[in-house]
Amino acid sequence: MGNPLVLASGIWGTSGMLLARAAKSGAGAVTSKSCSLEAREGHKNPTIVLHEAYVLNAVGLSNPGANAEVEELKEAKKHCSKIGVPIIASVFARSAEEFAQVAQIVMEAKPDAIELNLSCPNVGAEGRMFACVGEDAAMAVGAVKNAVDVPVFAKLTPSVSDIVGIAKAVEGAGADGIVAINTMPGMLIDAKARMPILSNKEGGVSGAALKPIALRAVYQVSRAVEIPVIGTGGIMNGEDVVEMLMAGAAAVGVGSAISYHRNALGEIRDEIGVFMKENGYGKISELVLQE
Ligand SMILES: Cc1cc2nc3c(=O)[nH]c(=O)nc-3n(C[C@H](O)[C@H](O)[C@H](O)COP(=O)(O)O)c2cc1C
Repeated sequence: MGNPLVLASGIWGTSGMLLARAAKSGAGAVTSKSCSLEAREGHKNPTIVLHEAYVLNAVGLSNPGANAEVEELKEAKKHCSKIGVPIIASVFARSAEEFAQVAQIVMEAKPDAIELNLSCPNVGAEGRMFACVGEDAAMAVGAVKNAVDVPVFAKLTPSVSDIVGIAKAVEGAGADGIVAINTMPGMLIDAKARMPILSNKEGGVSGAALKPIALRAVYQVSRAVEIPVIGTGGIMNGEDVVEMLMAGAAAVGVGSAISYHRNALGEIRDEIGVFMKENGYGKISELVLQE
């Protein structure tokens, strides 16, 4: 990667052209919007609320299905490979076997890595999220590792009491990297309308408010596992990236920031350079926490 920034899944990753745009505008790697075996419509509007301190969304994992996604990924690959930006294909499924199936389908587009969005219900386990139980998460990782020959990343949820236990379980199952974290469950209410704001009532919190939660998760997980962690959550500027690297991240995901500023990726990338220059750092690897 030319720089440590990774476009997080779900933001701009919905089409090949948007992935290419993220790559051109400053991402060191890009992640596609999570796709499933079959197409999904997602939730009705309103699905997203932008507040200065946070974003709340319940898009509902809308996607065109794995076969259609292959075409988007191929389009992205055509542009991204020219400028040396790797593509991470994000997938989700209802069982470990289905994870392997979806991953195999998207492999036709030759992504550089597969990311497992484990924040979806496991039909074989009474609908609990894969990322909530180490064994479930490990089963999904193990199945995909057997099915593909590119690095496999496991994306974890902060909504667990022991994220380190889940991280160790996915590492034990052969994950090549961890993406921490996905959104935190949340809700907003419109007092005048006396209604929840999102049509789905509940959603996931991202953006600035998520940063302290993400920093702690990355700090804990990166000290407990050997595999690299893509630190994601609440990154709004270059200094946030530095903090995430200091927490122990090997690379840093950016999602919600792009909802506020189209040029966020390029601006954040440049701000990392400015911070390093102003504070006497020569290399990214020097950005470690003094403890
Ligand atoms: C509108 C929206 C859609 C998202 N869709 C996905 C998705 O499809 N798959 C996934 O793994 N994460 C998804 N996420 C979570 C982000 O990838 C990221 O983990 C989270 O937003 C925290 O990073 P941020 O604070 O930089 O946005 C989505 C987030 C937002 C705001």
